[in-house]
Amino acid sequence: MDTFLKAKHVKFFERCLHVLPSRYSSLDTNRMTIAYFALSGLDMLGALDKLDNQRKDIVEWIYSLQLLPDSTESNLCQCGFRGSTTLGSSFDSEKARQFPIPLDSGHIAMTYTALASLVILGDDLSRVNKKAIMAGLKSLQQEDGSYCCVPEGSENDMRFVYCAAVVCSILSDWSGMDIPKAVHFIRNSQSYEGGIGQGLYLEAHGGSTFCAIAALVLMDKLTEAFNQTQLKRLKQWCLNRQQTGFQGRPNKPTDTCYSFWIGATLKLLDVYNLSNKEMNRGFILETQNNITGGFAKWPDHSPDALHAYLGVCGLSLLGEPDVEEMDPALNISKRASKHIQDLHRQWQLDNPNR
Ligand code: FPP
Ligand code: ZN
Repeated sequence: MDTFLKAKHVKFFERCLHVLPSRYSSLDTNRMTIAYFALSGLDMLGALDKLDNQRKDIVEWIYSLQLLPDSTESNLCQCGFRGSTTLGSSFDSEKARQFPIPLDSGHIAMTYTALASLVILGDDLSRVNKKAIMAGLKSLQQEDGSYCCVPEGSENDMRFVYCAAVVCSILSDWSGMDIPKAVHFIRNSQSYEGGIGQGLYLEAHGGSTFCAIAALVLMDKLTEAFNQTQLKRLKQWCLNRQQTGFQGRPNKPTDTCYSFWIGATLKLLDVYNLSNKEMNRGFILETQNNITGGFAKWPDHSPDALHAYLGVCGLSLLGEPDVEEMDPALNISKRASKHIQDLHRQWQLDNPNR
């Protein structure tokens, strides 16, 4: 089947916002990310109007998960967004302070996907506590420039550098990031293969390569971070990941999500036109589910929210006629990215000295 079944994908994403199969239960603390895949998926399909009656409720749900400073600001480094109410009291930071629940803190990936989702829904971010979010971000950056995801301590790697860069970019405030340190971490994570790993001395991977390059583009530091030789090896490594679709690393199977992770990286490096578009499109459509809609990681497998969204994004990069154009660095539609620019212009007018 080489037809893109847009209407089925719209239904798939609508379903993701309402009811999910039981196998998603382990993702309960990460609900914000699933909402983001569904909302951005609908946006990429030009179908946000399907949510007209629910838009307000979804915005309220997202804000209810913002962990705000308490009256003494003793919890600043815990601020940000939670992924769901599984771990905390929605709308009530004072209660959270009086009756602390272990691990009830913002999570950097939830803060990123919450802000992206608010922007997609057309919110003006006026209820986002920018100061608290920047304080939270700052406390997550490590000495080597990388980021943890929660203040209690966690693994620190390229994924969370990317999340931090998107948050700073959306809020137009980079005080939560020591940029030279982050650039240093990214530069040192280029492996001997040419691609970029999750950190120093780690295997190059399509996901971490996207996170690294997109973060640099958002910081406007790509050419400062890598010289021409390094960029050439990086482009070559990315282009070599194409089999029919793309794989995430050598000798691994092709997977729909890499049509976005590697595809977007190639776009940002300005060499996407050197990839084979027909083979890429052919592979993505092999993973389309023709009954339920959505995309799986592999042909004849069950679709899921992440691969459905990134499959649509992979097709957008290919210029699929029924899909909106996207901003590859922010991983949202061009339309949503323009909304961010409009907000920044307005903030500048409101407060020229900021
Ligand atoms: C699978 O590893 C992992 C992925 C498919 C995710 C890769 C994507 C990222 C690291 C980017 C995440 C971005 C954010 C913002 C959190 P695997 O070893 O099962 O897959 P492989 O066999 O394809 O290498
Ligand atoms: Zn995948």
